Amino acid sequence: MLKALVIFFGLLALAIAASLGTARSDVTTVCQSEDELWGSEDIRKFYFCLDGEVIADQCDEDYYFVNNATVSGCLPADLINPSCVNTESKVPSCTDGTQYQPQPCSNLTNFYVCTNEGVKELPCENGKAFVDAGGYLGCFPWTQWRSLRNCTDG
Ligand SMILES: *[C@@H]1O[C@H](CO)[C@@H](O)[C@H](O)[C@H]1NC(C)=O
Ligand SMILES: *[C@@H]1O[C@H](CO)[C@@H](O)[C@H](O)[C@H]1NC(C)=O
Ligand SMILES: *[C@@H]1O[C@H](CO)[C@@H](O)[C@H](O)[C@H]1NC(C)=O
Repeated sequence: MLKALVIFFGLLALAIAASLGTARSDVTTVCQSEDELWGSEDIRKFYFCLDGEVIADQCDEDYYFVNNATVSGCLPADLINPSCVNTESKVPSCTDGTQYQPQPCSNLTNFYVCTNEGVKELPCENGKAFVDAGGYLGCFPWTQWRSLRNCTDG
């Protein structure tokens, strides 16, 4: 138990160090760079500076922001780390077990539920996205969404 806790806090420290290392922020008031885009915990969003002022922007539908050694900008889902997108998800049949719990949707901030009136696509609350990973099921804030899904690069 104790060992597990130590490992847990070790991983937590690593995760914090790692997130500090990437230029990603929801602090939108400070210019992080005068000539580069930087990302947000929300994988669809990015920021840039114009005359010392931070401008927030969002990628087009089905495009996601990546900032690494080779790319800085919005890329289509099929070029994104698969841990960060739901390219495989489709409308559930509601007959194969998918009727028992909410299902992921290609729109990261939505999820499907099977109801008596058929499949419904429902939105998460603002600032949250859907997770079904490692025993976590539901809508979580983007920061937690990233770590639960291992979507930690870019
Ligand atoms: C995702 O769903 C939300 C809420 O229904 C909607 O506002 C948004 O436009 C959708 N985004 C995409 C990329 O379809
Ligand atoms: C940057 O991200 C893109 C898209 O996910 C990926 O194809 C590329 O390999 C990444 N480059 C590095 C250096 O990680
Ligand atoms: C994330 O990575 C951890 C450790 O490598 C692994 O146990 C877990 O299954 C991964 N989660 C997802 C959603 O891939």
